[in-house]
Amino acid sequence: MPHTRVATLVAHVDERLSRLDLPASPPQLYEPVRYILSGGGKRLRPVLLLLTAEALGAQPEEAMPAALAVEVFHNFTLVHDDIMDKAAQRRGRATVHRVWDESTAILVGDAMMGLSYDLLSQATGGDLGAMLRVYNGMVARLCEGQALDMAFEQTDDVSVGDYLRMIEGKTAALLECCFEIGAVVAGADAETRALLVRAGRELGRAFQIQDDLLDLTAKSPGWGKTIGGDLIEGKKAYLLLCALERTSDDLVNRGEANPEDAAFFRRILSEGGLPQEHVVEAARRMERIGVLAHAQRTVAKHTTDGREALEAALPPSESASLLLGLVEQMGRRSV
Ligand code: IPE
Ligand code: IPE
Ligand code: MG
Ligand code: MG
Ligand code: MG
Repeated sequence: MPHTRVATLVAHVDERLSRLDLPASPPQLYEPVRYILSGGGKRLRPVLLLLTAEALGAQPEEAMPAALAVEVFHNFTLVHDDIMDKAAQRRGRATVHRVWDESTAILVGDAMMGLSYDLLSQATGGDLGAMLRVYNGMVARLCEGQALDMAFEQTDDVSVGDYLRMIEGKTAALLECCFEIGAVVAGADAETRALLVRAGRELGRAFQIQDDLLDLTAKSPGWGKTIGGDLIEGKKAYLLLCALERTSDDLVNRGEANPEDAAFFRRILSEGGLPQEHVVEAARRMERIGVLAHAQRTVAKHTTDGREALEAALPPSESASLLLGLVEQMGRRSV
């Protein structure tokens, strides 16, 4: 159960998104924009930005345009990500490119990118030039991360280290940006900003590893994405990379890994994915070789590191406590 203040902020962000002044025409462009923006979502990024700004002394309304900007931008990345990942479901509904088509989804993303810049330009607190520098740097890094994510589909030579660099782009960059823009809105100093960037990086790592874990293990109907989608698509997500590491030829030869496990995971690579009917077996094998518990520990470690950086950055206050509590909850999330 989320804290009531956090729930209020989420509701506020939802309400502001529903009141965005979007044109009615052409409907084939703006209906899908409304569809993705109204589909729920945890609204984590705007809430992190709002609470950070507040914890550093800004008025909530000063940070709201930037908070809406990052959520619109995030939703845009989901629309394009779902094309790239051939995903059929998002937030429990059909993805934009499935309801409409890929060309529409590409254009919807373009329009949302413009909308997010328009929202950012309405920020009243902080130095807009500084915000734009942070924002533009984030956009480049997120795209670089997504480019690596796709490149990894074409090669079997991906290490856990490569994966960590990739998720620092595709996922952590935006969380870093939320914390840093919150700080810019509040006029915080360079040292505070650097600590917040570090917090964003650690929490971003935790967030993506948790997302990869939930991709296979989510039980809640609120998850809203295809269970096992990463394995079905043959994505080099965290669990598969760890499973391959734990069933390497070396370990098999030394009798420290089961050759059947090794063959099972290797086949996902050679066949470019896993048939849906083998997803449960994949989860069972991963559980048995300790991959799921390892992923959980990794999430917990990055969450702790992120929380510590946040604690160092923010003077004690009610908003800071709320933010720290929210970050803990993120580490234990089920959707
Ligand atoms: C999904 O983000 C994309 C990732 C970076 C893993 P969220 O899990 O925050 O998605 P919503 O906005 O709550 O649906
Ligand atoms: C998402 O990674 C990263 C971005 C959208 C930039 P995933 O591809 O794992 O996200 P989901 O699982 O589809 O939400
Ligand atoms: Mg993806
Ligand atoms: Mg995806
Ligand atoms: Mg995912």
